[in-house]
Amino acid sequence: MKWAREEEPVFWSPELGYWVVTRYADIKAIFRDHANFSPANALEKITPPSAAVQQVLAGYGYAMNRTLVNEDEPAHMARRRLLLEPFTPEALKVHEPLVRRLAREYVSRFIDAGQADLVDQMLWEVPLTIALHFLGVDEEDMPLLRQYSIAHTVNTWGRPDEAEQLKVAHAVGNFWQLAGRILEKMRRDPSGPGWMKFGIRLQAEHPEVVTDSYLHSMMMAGIVAAHETTANATANALRLLLSHPTAWAELCRDPGLIPNAVEECLRFSGSIVAWRRVALNEVRVGGITMPAGARFMMVMTSGNHDEAKFAEADLLDIHRDNAGEHLSFGYGAHQCMGKNLARMELQIFLEELTRRLPHLRLAPQAFSYLPNMAFRGPEHLHVEWDPARNPERRDP
Ligand code: HEM
Repeated sequence: MKWAREEEPVFWSPELGYWVVTRYADIKAIFRDHANFSPANALEKITPPSAAVQQVLAGYGYAMNRTLVNEDEPAHMARRRLLLEPFTPEALKVHEPLVRRLAREYVSRFIDAGQADLVDQMLWEVPLTIALHFLGVDEEDMPLLRQYSIAHTVNTWGRPDEAEQLKVAHAVGNFWQLAGRILEKMRRDPSGPGWMKFGIRLQAEHPEVVTDSYLHSMMMAGIVAAHETTANATANALRLLLSHPTAWAELCRDPGLIPNAVEECLRFSGSIVAWRRVALNEVRVGGITMPAGARFMMVMTSGNHDEAKFAEADLLDIHRDNAGEHLSFGYGAHQCMGKNLARMELQIFLEELTRRLPHLRLAPQAFSYLPNMAFRGPEHLHVEWDPARNPERRDP
């Protein structure tokens, strides 16, 4: 990416079938220009589904449609405006006690063990539980939904072989049907908290904006949007900070630095590394003219390391004053609606871990990542510490 930014900032990748965009300014310009670039291809499968896969999905009545992230204007903005309220900083405050309680409970489970896989033992499950609460899913429906959340990533952004595609197709089909059943249950009583219930209530007044198809698709897509992104972002942040012991020690001494450190971690090692757009008209990107229909993959993680925007971009600097200008949440009309919930989770996890396990260190390990082109975070994060030095043992 560094080579590309300098030598060929927009290049055609025959393997992917996309124009790859690597510079900060070009990526931001595409994100901000919704008159010329459509997000309709944002959730398209990188590996086109075979006839057999399509048949399996059809058997489940799978009919994933546009939601928000891949909807064009003006339909998108009308929907986004209506559905925004639960994401305002005021509304998000309601979730803070739950995030804090879950973070504490999970840390308490392993605090005396001296070692843990933070992904398996905390960072996967806590964001999922919070995502489900945010959507308004009942506790009793959570365990089943948990099983299906992973299927989406490989299916959409990976290169699964035929056997894997078929397996994933069954999981996706089941996930779709379960989402439908949960939605039906919510429809019977749409009162109470939760973004999906809020959407159902709005449907009565705005049926042409909040459609049935939107609600069913969002019930499924919302879990992926809120869960894996945040789980991966926290795992990336912890891997990064623990590999930079000076930065970690600073955060332990001064938790006031955590919010900016979160931005710097999102910049340095975001959890969505690339996102897509398709040209609606003839466009110019990085000085090259492209026809309508040209498909683009913007590598935000490359833009986030662009020296033209971030000085000494390959250096982790938790004091960086423009860290928050990263592209990890996208930009413009579609910018991540859940960004402040994600930030809150990241901050609270770091607050709890730096306070209760300041002597945490990475265990020797080889990191593995799910092979796909969008979602990135280590599958495991092994850490260790000496429980005898836990601050709460010395000062209970
Ligand atoms: C859209 C990243 C967490 C809900 C997006 C987009 C990105 C993104 C890249 C597309 C932006 C664009 O096209 O300009 C992330 C990352 C997260 C995260 C990195 C965690 C660190 C969440 C959470 C929620 C959420 C927790 C929900 C509670 C959404 C929604 C959209 C979106 C609804 C569509 C917005 C629209 O099209 O108007 N996110 N996201 N995200 N995200 Fe997130």
